[in-house]
Amino acid sequence: MAVHIGEVRQNTPAAIDIKGLSKEYTTARGTVKAMAPMDLSIKAGEFICVVGTSGCGKSTLLRLVAGFEKATTGSIAVDTEEVLGPSPSRGVVFQDYGLFPWLTVRENVAWGPKQAHLKTSLVKERCDKYIGAVGLELFADRYPHELSGGMQQRVSIARVLANEPSVMLMDEPFGALDALTRRGMQEQLSHLHRDIKTTVIFITHSIEEAVLLADRVVVMTGGAAKNVPGHIREIVTIDLPENRDVNSEHFNDLERSISRLVNTEEEDSSHGVDADASAEVQAGETNAEDEHKPVAVPRV
Ligand SMILES: Nc1ncnc2c1ncn2[C@@H]1O[C@H](COP(=O)(O)OP(=O)(O)O)[C@@H](O)[C@H]1O
Ligand SMILES: [Mg+2]
Repeated sequence: MAVHIGEVRQNTPAAIDIKGLSKEYTTARGTVKAMAPMDLSIKAGEFICVVGTSGCGKSTLLRLVAGFEKATTGSIAVDTEEVLGPSPSRGVVFQDYGLFPWLTVRENVAWGPKQAHLKTSLVKERCDKYIGAVGLELFADRYPHELSGGMQQRVSIARVLANEPSVMLMDEPFGALDALTRRGMQEQLSHLHRDIKTTVIFITHSIEEAVLLADRVVVMTGGAAKNVPGHIREIVTIDLPENRDVNSEHFNDLERSISRLVNTEEEDSSHGVDADASAEVQAGETNAEDEHKPVAVPRV
């Protein structure tokens, strides 16, 4: 929620309350039941990672919280406000950086605050603060094509942070980065999250990344291939310290148990849904699932 202090808008992290949320897509080939009704409560400032095989509805969930899609049933409340559409207070970072190629780093980051009609001095302050937060001070006047993939992703994070969102929604943001850059970005994001209080929902294919970053990992399952609409299988609390050692025994135990949840069949795969509520995809149809395969993150 935004609190107005003079000219300065300061956002505090918001709690998210999802109730009975489901999504069906209507296509020329019929209805795709992408997500069975789900409930999920996220505390203000929590870092939630969502994992699960392709097609289980992770991006659908994120797009619903972002307000890009309308729910078929159920509701999403961010603090007490119902999500009815997109808002700068719910910032979204995608795998492809989505920067404006004709604007410099500074201009890209300034874009949101300018849209919000903030005073010029405050726009500058926000740009300096968040370009600094992602370590790109020396590149503020460069254009996106002059930057590496990792740097462009840092710009897109700074651009979202410049709106001081109460919620940050990230859909496989590091999926296109090489392993070393990715590890650097994970560390930076984890530090940023400690400094800049915002609630995060972060989707990833990498279970290691989820255990490294999350307070809780939401394991989703289902999808067209399993003939069951996507749903939450389990929520795993990551009871690790802030500074995490990917080689520690407990880290590896958590990784293994989440991996089992992702890669094994549920005992009750009907998930309380009727056979006709299953996800439908016509034989031979190419699915979004095939587009992104899991990205293995080697230890560095
Ligand atoms: N716009 C859409 N129209 C029709 N079907 C869709 C659309 N978006 C997603 N789907 C289908 O919904 C299911 C869940 O997709 P998605 O949320 O993208 O999964 P994930 O992000 O977990 O890979 C998949 O079967 C996918 O093909
Ligand atoms: Mg997806």
